[in-house]
Amino acid sequence: MTTGIKPAAREAIHVFLEENRKFPPPASFQSQAWVKDESIYERADKDPEGYWAHWAGELDWFKPWTKVLEWKAPYAQWFLGGKLNASVNCVDRHLKGPRKNKTAILWEGEPGDTRSLTYEELSREVNRFANVLKKLGVRKGDRVTLYLPMIPELAIALLASARIGAVHSVIFGGFSAESLRDRINDAQAKILITANRGWRRGKPVALKEAADEALKAAPSIEKVVVVKRGDHPIEFKPGRDLWWHELMKEVSDQCEPEPMESEDLLFILYTSGTTGKPKGIVHTTGGYLTGVYATTKWVFDLKENDIYWCTADIGWVTGHSYVVYGPLANGATVVMYEGAPDWPEKNRFWKLIEKYKVTIFYTAPTAIRAFMKWGDEFPKRSDLSSLRLLGTVGEPINPEAWMWYHEKIGGGRCPVVDTWWQTETGMIMITPLPGVTTLKPGSATKPFPGVSAEVLNEAGETVSVGGGYAALTKPWPAMLRTIFNDSKRYEEEYWLKWKGKAYFTGDGAKRDDEGYFWFLGRVDDVLNVAGHRIGTMEVESALVDHPAVAEAAVVGKSHEIKGQALAAFVTVKEGTAPTPELAQKLKDHVAKKIGVIARPDDIIFSADLPKTRSGKIMRRLLRDIAEGKTLGDTTTLADPQVVARLKDQYEEKEG
Ligand code: WTA
Repeated sequence: MTTGIKPAAREAIHVFLEENRKFPPPASFQSQAWVKDESIYERADKDPEGYWAHWAGELDWFKPWTKVLEWKAPYAQWFLGGKLNASVNCVDRHLKGPRKNKTAILWEGEPGDTRSLTYEELSREVNRFANVLKKLGVRKGDRVTLYLPMIPELAIALLASARIGAVHSVIFGGFSAESLRDRINDAQAKILITANRGWRRGKPVALKEAADEALKAAPSIEKVVVVKRGDHPIEFKPGRDLWWHELMKEVSDQCEPEPMESEDLLFILYTSGTTGKPKGIVHTTGGYLTGVYATTKWVFDLKENDIYWCTADIGWVTGHSYVVYGPLANGATVVMYEGAPDWPEKNRFWKLIEKYKVTIFYTAPTAIRAFMKWGDEFPKRSDLSSLRLLGTVGEPINPEAWMWYHEKIGGGRCPVVDTWWQTETGMIMITPLPGVTTLKPGSATKPFPGVSAEVLNEAGETVSVGGGYAALTKPWPAMLRTIFNDSKRYEEEYWLKWKGKAYFTGDGAKRDDEGYFWFLGRVDDVLNVAGHRIGTMEVESALVDHPAVAEAAVVGKSHEIKGQALAAFVTVKEGTAPTPELAQKLKDHVAKKIGVIARPDDIIFSADLPKTRSGKIMRRLLRDIAEGKTLGDTTTLADPQVVARLKDQYEEKEG
C-alpha cells in the first residue's frame, strides 16, 4: 500500500501503535492471582514503611526489629534490631509442614544427568556444608568465594555460608583467572569453592585450572574445596585442595544457624562500573530477603504448586535473587539447568519445560532473540501448555521479541512480566503485576508497590511524560548498602548526580502519558552485551595491557541477538603491524584478561583516535562509526580528518 506518508510520519505512527498495543490480564489469570486490583499501589504509597514491615513479617525472625528504616542519605538501614538467618528462611522454616517433602531443587546437567532435592534433603546438605566451612576455620563475617558451574552445590554453598554468617562472593564461571584473582583479592576471601569442571556446549569448562592460575597471586585463600563433576583430571595441591564429597562425609547434618543482625552482610557481588575496577556490591540480610521474597511472590504470582524456572546463572544477581533466595524463601520448586540452550539441540529449553512441567519461566531478551532466529520449529516440538507466566530481565526487550515470546512460547495465554532492576537494587523494581497490569510490549510498566521511581532530567526535575534518566527516589529494602571497601565510590556513582536526593540508575528511560516506563539502555560507559554488564574501561585496560597496543577505545554497537556488541578502536605502537592475526590475538587477550563474555566482536585499527582539543576521546563519534550512522558534530575535534578516515576504513571492513 502506498500511502504517501513521509517516512518520519510513518515512523511516528509506528511508535504510536507500538506504544498503544495493550494486553490486559487474562480474566482466568486475574481471578486466581495474588494481586487482583490496583489499590495496593496506593496503600503501599501511603505508608511504605508499614507496607515493607508487613512483608518482613512474613519471614522468620529470631528477634523482631525495633525500627523499620533508618535513612541517612545515602545510607539505609532496614529492620534495625531484628535478627534472622537467610538459610533458616529458605530452608528450615519449610520443614515444619508438608513442604518438608516438597522438591526444592530439580536440577539437570548439560549431559542430561539429573538430581532432585526435597527441602529436607536440601537442609541436610546445607547443614553439612555449613559444618564443613566451620571446620575449615570460616567464621562470621569471613568471605567465601564461589567459582562453580550451575550445579546444586552452588545453591547449597550459598545457603551454608549464610547459615554460619559468612559473606559469599560468587564469580560467574565465564570470568577469567585474572578476574577471579582480582575479585578474591578485593574481598580478601579465605576459602574458594570450585569444581574440577563444568559443561558448556559439550565441552569442559576448566574452572579448577583457572582457579589454580588465580591463586598464584591470591594469598588470602587458605583452602580450596573442589566439587567432583565426573572424572575430569585436575592437579590437586595437597594441604590446600580438598574434595567436597570427602569433607561432607566427615560432618554432621545439624548446624545451628547464626543469628544475624538485619544489617549484617549477606553477600558481595561484583559488577561492572564506569572505571576499570569492578565494584563489590554489598547486600545485607533482612532488607534483601524481604525484597526478594515479596517480589518473587507477587511478580511471578508464585503458588504452592508452581514449577519455577529462572534460566539465569547464579553467578549473576538474577541467579542470587530469583534462583536461590527469592524462590526458596517462598518454598518454591526451582528448576536449575547447567548448560547451553542449544545443546545438544536448539530445543533444549523447551524439552526441559515439557519434562518438568514448568509453569513459570524467566529468561533474558537476548535468549529470546536467539530462539526467534533459530525458528518456531523448535518450541513447536514440545508441549509448553504447562506454562502460565513468562518473564524477562537484563536488557530492554524489543516489542517484536516480546510478541514472539508471548505467542510462540506463551501460546498467547501467559502474561509476560518485563522486570527492570540491577545488581545494586537487589530486587525487581519496575515490573508488571501480572494479575493487575495491562501490559505494553517493550515497557517494564510501573514501579512495584512500595517502590518509588521517576524519570528525572539532568537537573533532577521530574519528567512526567518524556525522556530522561531513570531514578529511584526512596530507599527500598534490598538496595545496595555500599560498595565493598569503597563508600566514596558508592556516594559518587549513585548519589552525587542529584546531591543525595535520588539514586542514579545509569539507565535512560522515558515515561508515556500513562506513566509507563520505557527503558532505553545505559547512559554511562557500561555496556549490556547479551544481558551481561561490561564496562568499556575494563575492556580498554585489557587491550592496552597488550604490548602491541598504544591506545584503545571501546564502544557498543547494536547487535541483532546480543543487544549490544563490543567494537574496539585500537592504535598500535610504532613498528607494530596492524594485521588480522593481531586483531585475533587482541580478542583472545581480552577474553583471557576478563573472560569470554568481554571478547570484542570487532577490532578496528586506526592510526589515531578522534579526540577533542583537550585530548578526550570522542566515543560518541566512534559509536556513530560503529553503528554506521551519519556523523554528528565534529567541529570540536583536534583533527577532523581522523574520523573521516576511520569511517571509510570501517565501512570498507563491514562491506
Ligand atoms: C539493564 C540485571 C531494560 C539496565 C538484573 C540495568 C534492563 C542493567 C532490564 C542491570 C529491563 C535490566 N529492561 N533494561 N527489564 N533489566 N536492565 O546489574 O540497563 O546485571 O541498569 O542486573 O541491565 O544489569 P545487572
